[in-house]
Amino acid sequence: MRDAYILGIESSCDETAAAVVRSGEHVESNVVFSQIATHQPYGGVVPELASREHLRGILPVVRQALVEAHRTYDDIDAIAVTQGPGLAGALLVGVTFAKALAWGLGKPLIAVNHLEGHIHAVLLEEKQKGNREVAFPVLALVVSGGHTHLFLAQERAAEGGRATWSYNNVGQTRDDAAGEAFDKVAKLLALGYPGGPIIEKLAAHGNARAVEFGRIRMKPGGKVRGKKPRGAESGAARFDFSFSGIKTAVLREVERRGMKTAIEARRAKLAAARPSPDQILAACDRETLDLAASFQRSVVDDLVSKTLAAARALETETLFVTGGVAANRALRAEFEHKAAAEGRAVYFPSRQLSTDNAAMIAAAAYPKLLAREFAAPEFSAEASLVLR
Ligand code: KG4
Ligand code: ZN
Repeated sequence: MRDAYILGIESSCDETAAAVVRSGEHVESNVVFSQIATHQPYGGVVPELASREHLRGILPVVRQALVEAHRTYDDIDAIAVTQGPGLAGALLVGVTFAKALAWGLGKPLIAVNHLEGHIHAVLLEEKQKGNREVAFPVLALVVSGGHTHLFLAQERAAEGGRATWSYNNVGQTRDDAAGEAFDKVAKLLALGYPGGPIIEKLAAHGNARAVEFGRIRMKPGGKVRGKKPRGAESGAARFDFSFSGIKTAVLREVERRGMKTAIEARRAKLAAARPSPDQILAACDRETLDLAASFQRSVVDDLVSKTLAAARALETETLFVTGGVAANRALRAEFEHKAAAEGRAVYFPSRQLSTDNAAMIAAAAYPKLLAREFAAPEFSAEASLVLR
């Protein structure tokens, strides 16, 4: 087949993104309009504001993606859009825009699950590097602000060399996502939003052994807050996570050490402008740095040890770690070290493709284009879309 160009569109959370990807593996453009500045004063994503920002951003972002790829609408073979999971109002902007564009241009439309996108971000870059030796099945940890999921992903060759994908959910968080824990702890310590990147920076200056949070324990039988995960197969072994406890443990530590006054002083000091990471660092005392480092170590240890336990039980040799939290260098280093010791290969996307983007959506759509799996005219956004 000749080269196929897919225009990907992503609007599930707080980034409006569009990208052109050639034949599932060459990123021709990858434009991300981040709404961080809009949500920063609130310490988290405000859904209503996210929808409005997507509406403002979507057309300029799509145009920019075409310009940077040196392509016009005529060159595009299909349009791919994130159907879910995500914020309903945010998803609707991307879906409505993509539907109208596909209809107007008379081009096929492909619906993509956001989590499948994160998994394909890894494959896309491995193919780009010339690595076609990834061994399947893959155990994929998708770890971001909205998700902490473990999928056993399998590529099956179908007729004519086409591949279809299947995903089996083998674990997920029963309460907060790991990225959400980073964000909430950052808010609690008055470090700004989003929490992940700033905690990563501060952690490098603190003592990760200063506070012992203990192992994050999962009570068997789903006694941890939350319900039975959607998409989970009943009877199968589960490798679930829980991150709401550590957030409470950080709060307890703050109270025990009498840090509240210093935290509120920092909040007032940093509230005025949009502080740089160095200004935030300068506003932190040793206790805060130690707490950030110890918190990060605890979350990293838990993600790595549970994922490796699942890999051993499921006998998978290949690991993918993807999603916003996969940008964390401490997480990458720990995964690389521990996986190598067990003879397992671990792959990450570049930091740029770890967080939300549309190149991953266009890449995940490529096998669907080959299999002619197009969206039905009546398809809509689904906030709780399950990946299978
Ligand atoms: O994948 P993403 O852009 O959006 C979602 O689908 O949620 O992930 C955003 C999340 C945020 O919670 C952010 O704090 C976290 O990823 N994050 C990080 C880092 N960079 C982003 N967490 C830890 N370390 C980082 N370097
Ligand atoms: Zn994401």
